[in-house]
Amino acid sequence: MVERETWATRTGFILAAVGSAVGLGNIWRFPFVTGEGGGAAFLLVYLLFVALVGFPAILVEFVVGRKTKRNPVGALIELGGDAWKYVGGIFIVTGFVILSFYSVVAGWFIRYFLEGFRGSYSSHLAGYEDAAAEAGEPAALLMFGDLSVGLDAFFFHTIFMAMTIGVVALGIRQGIELAVKVMVPAIVVLLIGMAVWVFTLPDAGAGYEYYLSPEFGVIADNWMGLLPAAAGQAFFTLSLGMGVMITYASYLGEDRNLAKDGTAIIGFDTGIAFLTGLVVFPIFFSAGITEPGDGGPGAIFVSMTEAFATISGGHLIGLLFFGTVAIAALSSAISLLEVVTAYVIDEKGVERWKAALGMGGVIYLLGVPVTYDLIFLDLLDGFADGVLLVFGALMLVILVGWITPKFAVQELEKGIGDLGSLGTVWIWVIRLPILVVLVVSLSLGVMDYV
Ligand code: PFF
Ligand code: NA
Repeated sequence: MVERETWATRTGFILAAVGSAVGLGNIWRFPFVTGEGGGAAFLLVYLLFVALVGFPAILVEFVVGRKTKRNPVGALIELGGDAWKYVGGIFIVTGFVILSFYSVVAGWFIRYFLEGFRGSYSSHLAGYEDAAAEAGEPAALLMFGDLSVGLDAFFFHTIFMAMTIGVVALGIRQGIELAVKVMVPAIVVLLIGMAVWVFTLPDAGAGYEYYLSPEFGVIADNWMGLLPAAAGQAFFTLSLGMGVMITYASYLGEDRNLAKDGTAIIGFDTGIAFLTGLVVFPIFFSAGITEPGDGGPGAIFVSMTEAFATISGGHLIGLLFFGTVAIAALSSAISLLEVVTAYVIDEKGVERWKAALGMGGVIYLLGVPVTYDLIFLDLLDGFADGVLLVFGALMLVILVGWITPKFAVQELEKGIGDLGSLGTVWIWVIRLPILVVLVVSLSLGVMDYV
């Protein structure tokens, strides 16, 4: 057997994992789901979910990947036996569904990036002013409605998917590491800069209040909606529940401290989402939009074009922003297609480029309806995040917690040292409280969906 590749540099694994995690989940999905969940109430449930469920769950994927050194489907079969190939099959389906709409949304960012070359964002918005006044809606929302569906959206979906397939087909890893090294700091700098500017806006205070000051009564009344929404968002944003982190950890040396790496990845991802909210909600309130959930999947585009139209130099900042997010989306999309491709290569013996092109092609077709009507976005996104990812995470928790707990603690201890009773605590946390939370989230998610 050939020696399996490991990450070229010590930071390679973190970079790839952060590249997968940081993406549209943070910048596009987080603000609109937070808006739909009523702001601060959602934020609090989400943060708790990330810390209490997301962290133990990322460790589960890490130990499975590093122990088996296989693709997710092979890994499940090795640990749990043949029947687990069906769960692996669901991982692959999840990858299909997520990437199909992910690519369409990423295409919107490319589109908004290119619009920046055709003129300032204020001049684009000016073109919608009259219609906006007539409809009584913000110009930026009409602009989004215009750009998000139709032939152009189809075109940019095609471009994005072609880029994703290209990178995965060629198996370029160095490129990804470099892109992440540039992209993550760029996003952080842009968001911090925007957050400082937003602070000076009139009525920004109402936005902070909406985003940061939870009413516990609201949480108590709405927990049946908040919990599955937070679960779906947490798994989506952390790339958990479909084997991405299994795959990345499968290339990992024994000396890495998985708990430390997990903390770093989750910290980056959560920080970027939180910052995005700090920018988006004050802009909404300052623009007189007091129901941030109403913008739906357009939230980030509506708030940012409003901002870039006002800010001096907003034209250039906007270009940079939309462009950087498109790159962030690419590194996440690559991880999605990589799981699917690696599976076909490993288990079916197909050549890499054929696997990437074949699977990518089918995923591309599945995304096409989304460019026609956003109702399909709702359907695919709701099913993947509310149901499939939570189900995947639940299965992993059952496998590692109940079926193969011994290896899990040993594997976690490599690179950390003797965990003593902490290892037992981790297993029992997975076995009971997390298992229950996931079963409840999944049941509520399924009920929401049907
Ligand atoms: N975590 C990515 C994001 O936040 O944009 C999306 C994603 C990538 C979800 C990979 C799931 C996945 F397996
Ligand atoms: Na993310």
